[in-house]
Amino acid sequence: MANSWKSNDTAGQTARLPRHIAIIMDGNGRWATQRGLPRTVGHKAGAETFRRIATHCKNLGVEYLTVYAFSTENWKRSADEVGALMGLLKRYLQEAVDTMEKDHIRLRFFGDMTPISPELRALAHETDEISTHLPPGDFQANVCLNYGGRDEILRAVRRFGADCVSGARKPEELSEALFSSYLDSRGIPDPELIIRPSGELRLSNFLLWQCAYSEFYVTDTLWPDFDEAQLDRAIAEYQQRDRRFGGVKK
Ligand code: IPE
Ligand code: IPE
Ligand code: MG
Repeated sequence: MANSWKSNDTAGQTARLPRHIAIIMDGNGRWATQRGLPRTVGHKAGAETFRRIATHCKNLGVEYLTVYAFSTENWKRSADEVGALMGLLKRYLQEAVDTMEKDHIRLRFFGDMTPISPELRALAHETDEISTHLPPGDFQANVCLNYGGRDEILRAVRRFGADCVSGARKPEELSEALFSSYLDSRGIPDPELIIRPSGELRLSNFLLWQCAYSEFYVTDTLWPDFDEAQLDRAIAEYQQRDRRFGGVKK
């Protein structure tokens, strides 16, 4: 069969499990404000939700989970809030260094790590190293940190341009597949399903290249309240979607 979506289809529209789910972890601040608590408490609760949902994805057999943790625009927030988010990430990475091997979880980062603190970068480097020693079939979580879809595309263009200048590549060689190999998501299939909690109907600069044919699922539930049953609902809805990829329904 010429089209990969057709060969996917033979597995049955209703039985297919997304290989790659991406989540915009939104609504932590509102969750806290509704309870009269500081926004940072919402982020702490959101970090817990991430742990639970990653475990659930892994148990279901999803291969990749990509989460939006901190955008290139989130630096606009107060130093307190940014510091709390970075602190939670640090805690998660410290934990991951001790547990990812045992739990068979590979971790990768999408985003420009240059403005991230050296301490956090060193931890990310450590989890990267551990990931390279884990079998490629193991579940992989991709954490988007100082990530922006536009920034990712610009960084890819710069690297491709540099390769052209050095003579390693020629502009006419550039195809969608080759361009994808310059992105942070290189080697990973595009997400079939993108979930946004908290009811916002926008991408907020998330996976702009990769979302070309993703199915979207939006729920009003705020991220700290998002649970395993909600993820199952999102997958069930995805399984009902008619994915045509520009073709015509058979
Ligand atoms: C998502 O929750 C976490 C980050 C963006 C870092 P928010 O902090 O955006 O929560 P709301 O949207 O203000 O409720
Ligand atoms: C998107 O949420 C970024 C993350 C979840 C990390 P935002 O809360 O930053 O997005 P906007 O401002 O509502 O578009
Ligand atoms: Mg938000």
